[in-house]
Amino acid sequence: MKTRITELFGIEHPIIQGGMHFVGLAELASAVSNAGGLGIITGLTQGTPEKLANEIARCREMTDKPFGVNMTFLPSLTPPDYPGLFEVIVESGIKAVETAGNNPAEWLPMLKEADIKVIHKCTSVRHALKAERIGCDAVSVDGFECGGHPGEDDVTNFVLLPRAAEELTIPFVSSGGMANARSLVASLAMGAEGMNMGTRFIATQEAPVHWNVKQALVDASELDTRLIMRGLRNTERVLNNAGVERLIEKEQRLGADLKFEDIIPEVAGIYPRVMQDGDVDAGAWSCGMVAGLIHDVPSVKELIDGIMSETEAIITKRLAGMQAA
Ligand SMILES: Cc1cc2nc3c(=O)[nH]c(=O)nc-3n(C[C@H](O)[C@H](O)[C@H](O)COP(=O)(O)O)c2cc1C
Repeated sequence: MKTRITELFGIEHPIIQGGMHFVGLAELASAVSNAGGLGIITGLTQGTPEKLANEIARCREMTDKPFGVNMTFLPSLTPPDYPGLFEVIVESGIKAVETAGNNPAEWLPMLKEADIKVIHKCTSVRHALKAERIGCDAVSVDGFECGGHPGEDDVTNFVLLPRAAEELTIPFVSSGGMANARSLVASLAMGAEGMNMGTRFIATQEAPVHWNVKQALVDASELDTRLIMRGLRNTERVLNNAGVERLIEKEQRLGADLKFEDIIPEVAGIYPRVMQDGDVDAGAWSCGMVAGLIHDVPSVKELIDGIMSETEAIITKRLAGMQAA
């Protein structure tokens, strides 16, 4: 399929794997790129420029297709070495960067200079327009359904995507709640040029996470996510578990007095325990409502090939068949 997104990133299918902490390693990114999508390594999981350079080199050994790096900007008392990480991205010849969490303006000149295409992930039309104004090449429009940080506006993709289509000139992909061919066809219909998936890609053979995590996603329904940290204006959609229930109980008890320090046991250092050790109840980890649409653990190639062939069938048979004679 050819869209402005496949053209921009030089990929076969308009499917992107969003950056995911402790999931977006070389194994998953290369599998997505080998299957014709755009795989993305999560920069902050590596943490240091040296480790990121190693991970990029590892991914290069596993694929000769284009892949990208996610750079997430988080409020932090001890910020990561962003200049060093971006230097590695440029030096290693990466051609796609997914930014998220905050305005990437500071880094755009060096990325443009290196001919790197930037897709910025945003949860509102106003942020998408800002990304367009500062020179991003594309945006990933992340609806309220999404796993991770949906922002504070709570607009779902059935409104957010067509609103983005009304306003934007640069191409955008849908993100949040995307899992299958129906998601892709709907995204294209609503003006997107492709789709970004997070949670769905965790439940694949190649995702380098503990089997318990994949099983938890297969077992979960669309009712099993919770929103946390709303009071801190850092809302995150996570899979419910004992740690999350403890956290929500604290939020309810402390109300407006809640501080980040109160919930450190449930949110800090959780990802390696969940993704590597398989302790899925350790605390809060991002998960989208789309868990309700995940019923199996295919290979990435089976997943993407299935989405693309079914997409064609929906467009050429189901939808074409509905046209009045
Ligand atoms: C476990 C997990 C970790 C994530 N970590 C990050 C991250 O570090 N940076 C980022 O920009 N987005 C992160 N995301 C968000 C995804 O890139 C993507 O935008 C989101 O999952 C889309 O919604 P979906 O899960 O419904 O597909 C994460 C999502 C999940 C499920």
